[in-house]
Amino acid sequence: MTPILSTKGLTAFYGDFQALFGVDVEIAPGETVALIGANGAGKSTFLRSIMGLIRVKPEMIQLDGRPVGGEPPHRIVSGGVAIVPEGRRLFAGMTVEENLRVAIDNASGRDGTWTLDRVFSLFPILKEKRREPAQRLSGGQQQMVSIGRALLNQPRLLLCDEISLGLAPRVIREIYEIMPEISEAGTAVVLVEQDVSLAKQASDRLYCMLEGRITLTGRSGEISRDQIAAAYFGGSDAVA
Ligand SMILES: Nc1ncnc2c1ncn2[C@@H]1O[C@H](COP(=O)(O)OP(=O)(O)OP(=O)(O)O)[C@@H](O)[C@H]1O
Ligand SMILES: [Mg+2]
Repeated sequence: MTPILSTKGLTAFYGDFQALFGVDVEIAPGETVALIGANGAGKSTFLRSIMGLIRVKPEMIQLDGRPVGGEPPHRIVSGGVAIVPEGRRLFAGMTVEENLRVAIDNASGRDGTWTLDRVFSLFPILKEKRREPAQRLSGGQQQMVSIGRALLNQPRLLLCDEISLGLAPRVIREIYEIMPEISEAGTAVVLVEQDVSLAKQASDRLYCMLEGRITLTGRSGEISRDQIAAAYFGGSDAVA
């Protein structure tokens, strides 16, 4: 089966600073893959490269086997990729429903199963608060809006950048509980996550990144804590 996403020797730079050093990742349609790694490992840079926010060579990123590296973000989005960005990035002056409707307008013409009602049934609290300004919501509720907005782009591949960051354990659980429903809709997911147990539980496969390189990959249920520790922090047996 052709992977929905594959990166081949992906490198990325901020000016002279190299942040990614030949990253090879493959994701099958509908699969959920976790990407873990310490602060500064390159996780967000990896997602930003896929979204077309960093210049890379065409063949370094392939969607459905088609080279798309360096295409502008709108082309990537219309190819079926959506991101829940680091820090949520909602439109503060707009209501919950307006924030969600922006995505519906963007996705016009694209088929998909996600509707405003379906997002509201995923996160009922958003229906209650639909007319409130987004900035008045709690951090967890804002994260739900950000996820809902990404889903309304009708993605086949959803990239999530540290959706649990700064949230209470109960809220994190509430958000992760809906992930299976996203997978059942056929959407492949990349979960960037600093909480390693959460990442393992929520994914089929896992990649660990250290200083811009993949240091470990395997099935999430088969990777040991020791392997992860070595790959996460570096050390003699970090590269499997
Ligand atoms: N806009 C930028 N300009 C210059 N360097 C950057 C920029 N963004 C990130 N970097 C550097 O690139 C490297 C990778 O950063 P990145 O944000 O991808 O890490 P991360 O794994 O997402 O970390 P975190 O867990 O803190 O979000 C770091 O050394 C970081 O300092
Ligand atoms: Mg990051």
